[in-house]
Amino acid sequence: MAGERAQVGIVGAGPAGLLLSHLLARRGIDSVLIETRSRSYCEARQRAGVLESGTVALLREAGLAGRLDRQGLEHGGIYLQFGGERRHLDFRDLVGRTVTVYAQTEVVKDLIAARLAGGGRVEFDVTGTAVADLDTDRPLLRYTDSGGGRHEVRCAVIAGCDGFHGICRAAIPAAERTEWEHDYPYAWLGILAEVPPSTDELIYARHPHGFALHSLRGPEVSRLYLQVDPGEDIAAWPDERIWAELAERLALPGWQLREGPVLDKSITPMRSFVCAPMRWGRLFLAGDAAHIMPPTGAKGLNLALADVAVLAPALDRLLHGEPGPADRYSADCLARVWRCTHFSAAMTSMLHRAPGRDELQAPLALARLGQLAGSRPAAAALADQYTGLPVGPAGLA
Ligand code: FAD
Ligand code: PHB
Repeated sequence: MAGERAQVGIVGAGPAGLLLSHLLARRGIDSVLIETRSRSYCEARQRAGVLESGTVALLREAGLAGRLDRQGLEHGGIYLQFGGERRHLDFRDLVGRTVTVYAQTEVVKDLIAARLAGGGRVEFDVTGTAVADLDTDRPLLRYTDSGGGRHEVRCAVIAGCDGFHGICRAAIPAAERTEWEHDYPYAWLGILAEVPPSTDELIYARHPHGFALHSLRGPEVSRLYLQVDPGEDIAAWPDERIWAELAERLALPGWQLREGPVLDKSITPMRSFVCAPMRWGRLFLAGDAAHIMPPTGAKGLNLALADVAVLAPALDRLLHGEPGPADRYSADCLARVWRCTHFSAAMTSMLHRAPGRDELQAPLALARLGQLAGSRPAAAALADQYTGLPVGPAGLA
């Protein structure tokens, strides 16, 4: 057992944990970052694809956007499809902002490469993660490394960036946290396909069979999603059935969906969840560890990165004896989290078939979609929320 020290112990090498260790290193703060999965698993996990303009600016300011600037696809809008029509929302025109399509896999690869090039301590394939003494000034991070060595690291702060299923949130006594949760009666079946996209910008479609989304990953690779039942077995969805259903839900006269080999296929349940506060003693939660939402609003990755952009300067101040920003961390982040939770829920109910009660839900959703297509202020409000809030309150300052 090695007795070690680090200023910050970070649990989880997803986007939140990786960016936090990078931002801390730029401030001269050392961290140890531990991850249960392998590096290759983290780099291949298929998830988000859309970066808000503030997220792109954050990654640029942090010196992490070399490949993003070369390979990211800047999109000036989205299509909303409903009632047999496809309507374009032009974000540039409506709010003067854009989003960038750049996969989470690529963000994670860039972050890992930057941490390792900077000599950062990142340990993959760990087991037995535990946190203790969180209500003291010297919390403890324990884990077993990939070679079987047991570690005990005394830290000044622990950051729980370990996702929705991690261990950190549960380390906050139940009486000290409030959890707000809603499960949706749908799931997304997502595929990654080796085929050029059939669209220039994302298509979000509401169809009597359910939601469909056409997203993209690059000139040769497409990412597509279908609403399915939460209990659905992926074995019931051979590739031909997926393509047939996508073609039906995205159909438009004169437009054709290109098909290709399916490289990856998975089903994700849909849930909104918020834990408050996002801090207890010397434990700070960030990203999915504290909040998740349905991917319909494309917010989860952006929020995870926005949290740590607030956390890094707050921890810097805390380590220099100034607790104010750390004391405000949770409230500052939760304001953004609730706005995004609301937006994601509204996008979700507007675009999904409501199992068992769609006769009641569909007319309301179609009324709202019609308003978005016909009212500039309504469309501008959606564009404002989709392209995102500026990162802050303190940004990288
Ligand atoms: P995670 O990425 O979950 O990382 C947490 C890490 O902690 C993991 O690597 C995990 O292995 C590790 N870990 C867990 N427990 C331990 C432990 N005990 N010890 C050590 N390590 C541990 N968001 C968007 O912004 N835009 C989108 O378009 C979008 N689309 C999505 C589509 C899908 C299908 C899904 C599933 C999600 C989507 N999201 C999207 C959400 C986004 O992917 C997540 O919000 C994001 O991954 C959160 O990052 P994170 O670092 O907080 O958590
Ligand atoms: C994706 O490209 O994976 C993606 C895009 C938009 C969303 C969700 C996922 O709303």
